[in-house]
Amino acid sequence: KMRKVIVCRDLGTDAMGILRACEDIELVVWPENRPCDRTWLLDNVTGAEGVALMLSEKVDDELLDKAGPSLKVISTMSVGYEHVSLPALMKRGVRLGYTPDVLTDAVADVAVLLALMATRNVKATTSIVENGQWPESTWAPFSFCGPQLSSGLLPSLAFPAPGTPGTSSNPSGESTERTVGFLGFGRIAQATLARLVAFGARKFIYTGNPNASASSLQSSSAADIELATKHNLPQNAITRVSIESLAENSDVLFVLAPGGPSTYHIISHELLARMKPTAVLVNASRGSLVDSDALAQALGEGRLWGAGLDVVEGEPKVSSDHPLVKEPRCVILPHIGSATFETRRAMATLTARNVIAGVRGEPMPAELDLTAWT
Ligand code: GLV
Ligand code: GLV
Repeated sequence: KMRKVIVCRDLGTDAMGILRACEDIELVVWPENRPCDRTWLLDNVTGAEGVALMLSEKVDDELLDKAGPSLKVISTMSVGYEHVSLPALMKRGVRLGYTPDVLTDAVADVAVLLALMATRNVKATTSIVENGQWPESTWAPFSFCGPQLSSGLLPSLAFPAPGTPGTSSNPSGESTERTVGFLGFGRIAQATLARLVAFGARKFIYTGNPNASASSLQSSSAADIELATKHNLPQNAITRVSIESLAENSDVLFVLAPGGPSTYHIISHELLARMKPTAVLVNASRGSLVDSDALAQALGEGRLWGAGLDVVEGEPKVSSDHPLVKEPRCVILPHIGSATFETRRAMATLTARNVIAGVRGEPMPAELDLTAWT
């Protein structure tokens, strides 16, 4: 008996090759190079045992009813699953495959990229060059300066007063020690931390569950000490703090937590008001976590140095008149965090393997444990 599998987007040579090689699978593939039409999906899904899809496809009761009792697995080519109704899956015993781990490094790379772009005025400065407006004064002492992302010690700006002790063995200097904050402290945040260690950072703060209260905070847990030790950092280098303290103390704040109702607009007007005017905000998770209007206002009023966003509320419908798009210190990428050839190939083949294992009733290479959501 052939198992019907719907594929909502051509997954590329490797993944499609794996699927086509399965003699027990009958493939129905959306033929166009754009998100599949909802009506096409609803028309074709009846009797399917598996569906491979993207963030653009909503999985809800309507779709699962149309599929009927044959459906065993949804396999999404993403680590996030806000587009999937978990209760709807659980009600019917449908399994969910997703793509964690394989994209961690690629997204962490983009998080660092955004932090550098936001601190170093890359949006404004590249546009100056592109527009043929490279001024004669670029190498003026302080033009285009931004805060430094690297942590370290720069030589003192001032001549020490005569008789000041120890300028060579114990130099006084301009400390650029940075406090790096994480809202959400999962795989991608920890991979970003590893990169910032190489940038000299020695002070990391995070909130794991953004809704946690401030009690039992402010001390490093065994896991934090273990992580610090792994990176040759002092034992107290990584500390869990309240979300307010996170906002107040971060020089760069990375938002790397899942979307959904529990984190909606967690970067609010109130939280932005607590941030340092020299700080930058990076969001490489979901646009819904950041209140865009509040962020635009904070940037416009100079209450925050800059922002680097790989995701924006309402994407991909983001108009060029959007206040954040117009903001010279807000750099926006069109959700490209995982977009390297290597990572996307790995995500696509994992998506294929998940759906194959799912329809066969075998263990999936990356299955979301739905029992954790009951
Ligand atoms: C991308 O945002 C993903 O969830 O994989
Ligand atoms: C920069 O180009 C320098 O020479 O310092």
